[in-house]
Amino acid sequence: MKGIILAGGKGTRLYPITKAVSKQLLPIFDKPMIYYPISILMLASIKDILIISSPEAIDSYKTLFGNGSQLGINIEYAIQKEARGLADAFIIGEKFISNDRVCLILGDNIFYGPNMTQMLKDAMLHEDGAVIFGYAVKNPVEFGVVEFDKNGNVLSLEEKPEHPKSDYAIPGLYFYDNNVVTIAKNVKPSSRGEIEITSINEEYLKNNKLYVSIMGRGMTWLDTGTPSGMIKASEFVQTIQERQGFYISCIEEIAWRRGFIDTEQLLKLGIDLEKTDYGQYLISLAKEGKK
Ligand code: G1P
Repeated sequence: MKGIILAGGKGTRLYPITKAVSKQLLPIFDKPMIYYPISILMLASIKDILIISSPEAIDSYKTLFGNGSQLGINIEYAIQKEARGLADAFIIGEKFISNDRVCLILGDNIFYGPNMTQMLKDAMLHEDGAVIFGYAVKNPVEFGVVEFDKNGNVLSLEEKPEHPKSDYAIPGLYFYDNNVVTIAKNVKPSSRGEIEITSINEEYLKNNKLYVSIMGRGMTWLDTGTPSGMIKASEFVQTIQERQGFYISCIEEIAWRRGFIDTEQLLKLGIDLEKTDYGQYLISLAKEGKK
């Protein structure tokens, strides 16, 4: 399975912060925002990753990750000239996806919770169709929303409805079979002029090929769309890390625990960052060998 991270968009809800900097490079506590979604792909053992961003920002991502070999993975890059909508990821990524399945994660979505690896594994078991998630929120109007009947069957999907039919938002993490490329090419732009991911999901629903998995209340899905959302996400990460001593979305640690890199490589990555607690954390993992 391939992985795509969409890190485009203008981040207008964060202006002026994002006038000159790509939103997904902004810090969430001690690491760039994009570390969080990339860590989810790595936890799913997806090692071929395409990062899509704007022409202005793409070089910054290349500086940050290079070709990914330091993490034992393969990272490629593609440009999205205009923010045409999330479905565009599959059109831009067509060659990269080739005849594989694909997982799309949005570059500003942060997930943290128990059983994450199991949840990802279960989603990947569906070889045919699409797997998306439902997560109860207080403000469903801001998201894609999924409606269920009494038996938990999906009745409808709506993108940012004025009158949501349920409290279940659809987070920015989606698994698709290879048909997604063809489906994306046939999506018509919505009233806001974007080719919506929700239209893709509706197509799978129509064909009886959409599986919606509920992320329970123990799962954390954080919004980073506004300055206060960013601060809250940072505080959340800081609180857990300082309490437990384990880092959230530490991609170097995940690469090491997954066996993508060895202890010597981890130590080198730590030494590169040795002036920070982050670097010291990597060094201590490498020295103590706490697998
Ligand atoms: C997008 C999707 C929406 C989804 C959300 C998750 O919205 O269109 O369906 O619920 O991401 O973050 P956007 O944030 O691009 O407006």
